Amino acid sequence: MKRITFLIFFVFLFQACGFYQNKKVSQDKLINTITEQLSYFPEIKDTLNLKTSSRVFPRTLTPSGKLQLVGKRDWTSGFYPGVLWSMYNLTGELKWKEQAELYTSILESEQFNASNHDLGFKMMPSFGEGYKVTKNEKYKDVLIQSAKTLITRFDEKIGCIKSWDHNKDKWDFPVIIDNLMNLELLFWAWKETGDSVFYNIANTHAKTTMKHHFRNDYSSYHVVGYDMETGGVVSKNTHQGYADDSSWARGQAWALYGFTMIYRETKDPIYLTQAENVANYILNIAKLPEDYVPYWDFDVKNIEAEPRDASAAAVIASAFFELSGYSEENSKTYISTANHILTSLSSEKYFNTKGANKGFLLKHSTGSKPKDSEIDVPLIYADYYYLEALLRRSKLNNQTITKN
Ligand code: GLY
Repeated sequence: MKRITFLIFFVFLFQACGFYQNKKVSQDKLINTITEQLSYFPEIKDTLNLKTSSRVFPRTLTPSGKLQLVGKRDWTSGFYPGVLWSMYNLTGELKWKEQAELYTSILESEQFNASNHDLGFKMMPSFGEGYKVTKNEKYKDVLIQSAKTLITRFDEKIGCIKSWDHNKDKWDFPVIIDNLMNLELLFWAWKETGDSVFYNIANTHAKTTMKHHFRNDYSSYHVVGYDMETGGVVSKNTHQGYADDSSWARGQAWALYGFTMIYRETKDPIYLTQAENVANYILNIAKLPEDYVPYWDFDVKNIEAEPRDASAAAVIASAFFELSGYSEENSKTYISTANHILTSLSSEKYFNTKGANKGFLLKHSTGSKPKDSEIDVPLIYADYYYLEALLRRSKLNNQTITKN
């Protein structure tokens, strides 16, 4: 009897090792392909003078196919340093760390930029990821100052951080669903400093967003406008979606990712339920195509003729990997969804190879269809969240292997 048990154990171990080996080989192959593709950012590698040029961060391609570089004030400036930190995490090669440090350092003065809510988007993929790796005290100081700058935009009566100062004719106090992503910086600052001000503002913003941004089916409006006198809601609109009452795909992705992260930081079950409800909307109510890479808006008319948004897919995949760790009941569904998305994004249909599209990893993202801007193009944040999803998957796989 004992011998049979041993035999079964060894067969199981052998199969588990083979399974692990296969996964590792395909992950290694993918990392090689990614490394090769990223080596094609030619303008950056060969001609860029970081000291004299203010536009140094790749964002997308121009309509004529040129690499579009942006300055540090752009909301996407943190994602290229973030891609470089991810590459260091995936490969352990020092060249990525050196580049990541260089590009991160260019963003330093953004810690004082209070002109919008984008501090989390800019500083967490750059200084935040860099701090995890290096424990560099300077990075810590920059992040704490960034959090202090972000909370200057908080309004007590409304219970939210103001997202934008533009379009004053339309909104006095706009809050966009994307703003949830910036709260991660505040939770980080609370944990590092012990100052509950950061926690309370992030938590209040999350609660206000939960109350006003969602419809009964847990799809989200893009922009909620508040009255600064009364603190009440005056409008619910879109800025980048198809219609005020439609579901802009990346907005739903920010909501899923945002509440998953907020649950991680607070452990308050109301946020887990919220994330699960948004997940249910995306999986069972929204019209995801077969490859799970959404069209740019879930409710746009003649949807099959519309462009996709690979950036929304990448954010959703990354969020589902994390949420699978908190939601026992739905864990398998979330993992298989995230895997399905990554398989699609890593396929020829979505993945650039041999230097196509100037070295960006993913094709077919959409920035702002209503503004006729960045339609069906590569976007740096799609690449960032794609790499984050790959990292999260490999962590998850390693844990499963060691747990068994
Ligand atoms: N936060 C801007 C966007 O998602 O396009």
